[in-house]
Amino acid sequence: MSKTLQAIRGMNDILPADGALWLYLEDTARRIFEQYGYRFVRMPIVENTALFVRGIGEATDVVEKEMYTFEDGPSKEKESLTLRPEATAGIVRAAIEHNLTYERGQRVWTHGAMFRHERPQKGRYRQFYQLDVEALDFAGPDVDAEQIVLLARLWKELGLTDAVRLKINTIGDQNDRRAYRETLITYFSRYPEQLDDDSRRRLHRNPLRILDSKNPAMQTLIENAPRMLDHINPDARTHFEALQALLRQAGIDFEIDTRLVRGLDYYNRTVFEWVTDRLGAQGTVAGGGRYDGLFELLGGKSTPACGFAAGIERLILLLQERKTECSDAPAIYLVFQGDEVVAFAWRVAETLRNEGYALTLNAGGGNFKSQMKKADASGARIALILGDDEAHSRTITVKWLRDTDKTQHTGEQERVSAAELGRWLKAHGV
Ligand code: HAM
Repeated sequence: MSKTLQAIRGMNDILPADGALWLYLEDTARRIFEQYGYRFVRMPIVENTALFVRGIGEATDVVEKEMYTFEDGPSKEKESLTLRPEATAGIVRAAIEHNLTYERGQRVWTHGAMFRHERPQKGRYRQFYQLDVEALDFAGPDVDAEQIVLLARLWKELGLTDAVRLKINTIGDQNDRRAYRETLITYFSRYPEQLDDDSRRRLHRNPLRILDSKNPAMQTLIENAPRMLDHINPDARTHFEALQALLRQAGIDFEIDTRLVRGLDYYNRTVFEWVTDRLGAQGTVAGGGRYDGLFELLGGKSTPACGFAAGIERLILLLQERKTECSDAPAIYLVFQGDEVVAFAWRVAETLRNEGYALTLNAGGGNFKSQMKKADASGARIALILGDDEAHSRTITVKWLRDTDKTQHTGEQERVSAAELGRWLKAHGV
């Protein structure tokens, strides 16, 4: 026998037992995104490596060590391509390429697989899925607030409101950051012996990321560091205050976390994260912010924008922890036996599907007993049973398999005329 093959580490199979929960989450999100006027887009999974290097930033963890990059094409015209580690850069590339914001701003959303070569652990994978929402050519702070309110609604509908909390911050504009960077380098350089290896490496490349360090030994040093909030220009400050006012008006609780900087370089002004304590180290379920400079950085004209992404696996873990029930069981399982019954059974099945019922038709034959076992395992509420008797009398035996609305039918069975079946099912709440 040949050796069995397995999925790649950090890349997970989503199996039928979890399928319904994934679809419930995706459908709920889709409905809410549409309610807020966001329109669906889908971009390629593979892009030119330069897009991410320029867009996300050379000195970020994602670009420095987490990208799946490969050479493609004949030897003379080899191109460097990368599996997308996130969706924003691709969407902005497409918006520039198709002149999407020529007439007016665009609210768009997408979902799909992203790839980062991280060390896998609970809530952190190498192929993972995001829900991603972007408002292109909106200067805010109204859309910044809109996206946060939209997420609050998503948590509410998913029953996760008390599992997550919101952190916001402003990181000012590019010039503020440039000046703040120097301030931080000067500050941290005064305490070289207190910096860990990671931070020493980041000191000149990306000192803002030092503020993000989780190393307990560095917390006092970080707490005493100069704060970004004290180094931002008046416009950015007004923007941040207006965002807070809108959130208060919408009844959204938030915490200002002056150390929140996010891991991608394109952000300016508003940054936010929704975090949970229930997932250990991988506690950020959604994150985003404003990226007013990204269009220009990628060769487009200056276009303010704001967006976020939520990690689907992390939300699924929260839903599972909450024991959120989701079922994709059919309402009806149809068992049948006898050569003369086949056509009748198929006709009944298609007629009920025309009426909108989810119906699984037994496949592969078998005696009634084995078919009834499959009917039960399918999770259906009722089994329809067709044998020669039923075919001759144009009737169908209905057997209750489980009583989801507790009307005490389980185990009962009765004969119903085929012509009456649709009405009978409706009258019995199936
Ligand atoms: P991000 O913070 O890198 O932002 O990722 C957003 C979310 O994706 C995280 O909060 C987390 O829930 C999930 N996530 C990230 N990496 C992994 C992983 N390895 N395994 C499982 N889940 C993960 C972005 O990607 C930005 N593009 C968000 C954005 C959109 N900003 C503006 N527009």
